[in-house]
Amino acid sequence: MKVYLSEYIYPEAEALLREHVEVVEDFDDVEHIDAIILRAAEVSRDIISKAKNLKVIGKHGVGCNTIDLEAAKEYNIPVVNTPLANTNSVAELIVGLMLNISRNISYCDAKDRKEGFSRIAPPEMTGIELTGKTVGLVGTGNIARRAGEILRNGFQVTLIGYDPYCSEEQAAKWGIKKYDDLKDMLEASDIVNVSVPLTKSTENMISTEEFEHFRKNAILINAARGGIVNEDALYTALKEKKLRAAACDAFVQEPPTGENKLMSLDNFCATPHIGANTEEALVRMGMEVVKEVLDVLDGKDPIHRVV
Ligand SMILES: NC(=O)c1ccc[n+]([C@@H]2O[C@H](COP(=O)([O-])OP(=O)(O)OC[C@H]3O[C@@H](n4cnc5c(N)ncnc54)[C@H](O)[C@@H]3O)[C@@H](O)[C@H]2O)c1
Repeated sequence: MKVYLSEYIYPEAEALLREHVEVVEDFDDVEHIDAIILRAAEVSRDIISKAKNLKVIGKHGVGCNTIDLEAAKEYNIPVVNTPLANTNSVAELIVGLMLNISRNISYCDAKDRKEGFSRIAPPEMTGIELTGKTVGLVGTGNIARRAGEILRNGFQVTLIGYDPYCSEEQAAKWGIKKYDDLKDMLEASDIVNVSVPLTKSTENMISTEEFEHFRKNAILINAARGGIVNEDALYTALKEKKLRAAACDAFVQEPPTGENKLMSLDNFCATPHIGANTEEALVRMGMEVVKEVLDVLDGKDPIHRVV
């Protein structure tokens, strides 16, 4: 059996895969590939249609936006992922980014290393606390709920949420007050977290119009996917102080560089898609995706089937 894998996964997971199959790193012999394992690689309709032997596509992680899911469905190729393997790691990063931009941590550190400040506790570096704030969750899925749990336990926040696929009753069971209208939720939020998949319906869901409904002192976190928050609109909103600060772990062009104009703003913080990049999550994602793919190749039913 041949399995395509071109990206880094946890070494023990790769070793387990290599014990059972031949690993190829390109699509040169695409007709003879039995499975694909990917992190961020693109799996297009063209590849799916040419891969006549393909039996399963395994996503290391959650977001399947680089896979043509319609084509996979059409060709009846199961797509599997590791839905809970990185939840906690991403949630912890979200909370870290919140603390960072509410207290200007990265900004202070960068300035300390260069010219430094003229005094301690500089007034222009006055921060805000997370404790007691209202956190608006755009998407109330696994990552958002874990982040919400950490924030509620550690900072006694109030959780509100916008997620059309979650009922009011279900949200209430999770301690989240459901809003049916995104703009209403933004108006009620001190902190806004975006944790939704990138789809046609979520692309640009936070853009110029939505920024009109942010609180002036609000902070925004997007550790989901680039393009869900429109970057031009975010740049303008941050410059015009429609909100206090923002942090993103995901960008339209990745990894982000100084070319991205958001990097010129002091009230913005960027990380290069490190949400799931912890030792713990890499072990879980790697082992789970390899085991799941090997099981499907062995004729077993997939557990975490996306389509
Ligand atoms: N930064 C990283 O490294 C990293 C790692 C893992 C996941 N992610 C991203 O985070 C996203 C969320 O992950 P998760 O594990 O919580 O997934 P999940 O499937 O548990 O949750 C996604 C939630 O989004 C909701 N949703 C879908 N469309 C929506 C819309 N139009 N409006 C509001 N809500 C909507 C769904 O109902 C669901 O509750 C992933 O899709 C992925 O893009 C990023």
